[in-house]
Amino acid sequence: MIKIVTIIGARPQIIKAAALSRAIKNKFSTQIKEIIVHTGQHYDANMSQVFFDELNIPKPDYNLNVGSGSHGKQTAAMISGIEEILINEKPNAIVLYGDTNSTLAGGVAASKIHVPVIHIEAGLRSFSKAMPEEVNRIMCDHVSTLLFSPTKTGFDNLIREGFNANAKEPYSANNPKIYHCGDVMYDNSLHFSEVAESKTNILQTLSLKANKFILATIHRNNNTDEPERLNALFKSLNDISLKQDLEIVLPLHPRTSKLMETNLTKQNLEAVKANKGFKITGPVSFLEMIALEKNCKLVMTDSGGVQKEAFYFDKPCIILRPETEWVELVECGTAIIADADEHKIKAAFDKLFTNDHLKFPKIYGNGFAAEFICAEMVKHLQ
Ligand code: UD1
Ligand code: UDP
Repeated sequence: MIKIVTIIGARPQIIKAAALSRAIKNKFSTQIKEIIVHTGQHYDANMSQVFFDELNIPKPDYNLNVGSGSHGKQTAAMISGIEEILINEKPNAIVLYGDTNSTLAGGVAASKIHVPVIHIEAGLRSFSKAMPEEVNRIMCDHVSTLLFSPTKTGFDNLIREGFNANAKEPYSANNPKIYHCGDVMYDNSLHFSEVAESKTNILQTLSLKANKFILATIHRNNNTDEPERLNALFKSLNDISLKQDLEIVLPLHPRTSKLMETNLTKQNLEAVKANKGFKITGPVSFLEMIALEKNCKLVMTDSGGVQKEAFYFDKPCIILRPETEWVELVECGTAIIADADEHKIKAAFDKLFTNDHLKFPKIYGNGFAAEFICAEMVKHLQ
C-alpha cells in the first residue's frame, strides 16, 4: 500500500482530483491510500464545497484555510502548512495538479524535504512568464519525479527543457520520468456528461434553448485587473449579443464580479446591465457547467479548463487570451485566439459561429488517464 498526499485548493484542481479519487475508489483502494489536503485557496461554497458534494470527492483530511492574499503571503502560508502535514504523514509522494499557487506551494514544501512530487498536467507552457501560472508550472515540473502530461505538446516541451524521455528506474527528482497520458479532465467530462442535464436544471432556470446561446467565462488576472482589457471584453460580448440577438450566459468568478464594478467604464457597465440578453450568474456547479457547455452554440473564455471542455462537447471556442497552452485546439481549427481585442473577437465569431464543418478529434486520451496515473504510481512508488 502506498500513501499519497493530494494537494487541492483552486476550483479546477478540486474537479481534477475527482478523477483520481474515483479511480482509487474503484480500482486501487487496496493499493493506494489518499490523504487530501485543501489549502483553502478557494473557499466560497460555489468555488469549493459544491464540487465535493456533486462529484463525490472525499472530504479533505486537512484544510489549511489559507484564503486569499498576495502571491507571496498566500504561497508562504501554504508551504508552511503543507510541510508540517508531510512531516507528520510521511507519504510516499505528493500529488499536485496544474499551475496554481497551491501547486507551487506543494512542490516547494515536498521537494525540500525529499518527498517525491507527482505532477499531473505537466509540461504545459504558454511561454509567457508574465502569467503567474507559467512560473508555477515550470517550477513544479522541475522538482517533480513523475510528470504526467496530458498532451504530446506538453511531453515535447519537457524534452526541450532537458527531461529525458528514456530515463530508467529508479526515478527521482534528479532522474524524473515523463509520460504523455491524456487528460484527467477528459475522464471527468466523459464520466459526468451523461448525468449533467438530468441532475441539474440550469437550462430551465435560465430559460435557455439548446444551441441558441453563447457560454462565456472571464477570470484571468490580466483580463480582470487591466481595465482596458476588461472593457474590451465586455464591449465585445455586448456588441455580439445585441447584433446577433443572442443570449450570453456568463457565470462569473468572484474576482470578476468584484472587479467589473470598479474596472468597467460607467457607460460599459450600464450597457451590460441594460442588455436583457446577458444572463450573469455566480459560479455554477460542474454539472451545471457541463449542461451549459453541451447545449451552447459557442464558447468564449479565458479559462484553460473551459477551452478544452468546449472541445470535448464539440463546440467552437474563442480564446480570450493572447496565447494558449492547449495549442491542439487551435491547430484543429475549432478554437481561435482572439486576446482581449474587439476586432479579433468579432472576426473569430464570424468565422466560427456559422461553421458547421468543424472536426473535434479525440486527442486528449481515452478517458482512463487517472487509472493510468494510479497504476504508474503503484509501480514506481513502492
Ligand atoms: C486561481 C489560479 C488560476 C486559476 C483559477 C481557477 C493562481 C495564481 N491562480 O486564480 O490559475 O485559473 O484560480 O479559478 O493560483 N475569491 C473569492 N472567493 C473564493 C476565491 C477567490 O472571492 O472562493 C476572490 C478573492 O477576491 C481573491 C480573488 O478571487 O483575491 C482571486 O483568487 P485567487 O485564488 O488568488 O486567484 P484566482 O483568480 O482564483
Ligand atoms: N467551472 C465550473 N463552474 C463555473 C466555471 C467553471 O464548474 O462557474 C469549471 C469548468 O467546467 C472547468 C473548471 O471549472 O472544469 C475550470 O476552472 P477555471 O476556469 O476556474 O480555471 P482554469 O481551468 O482556467 O485554471
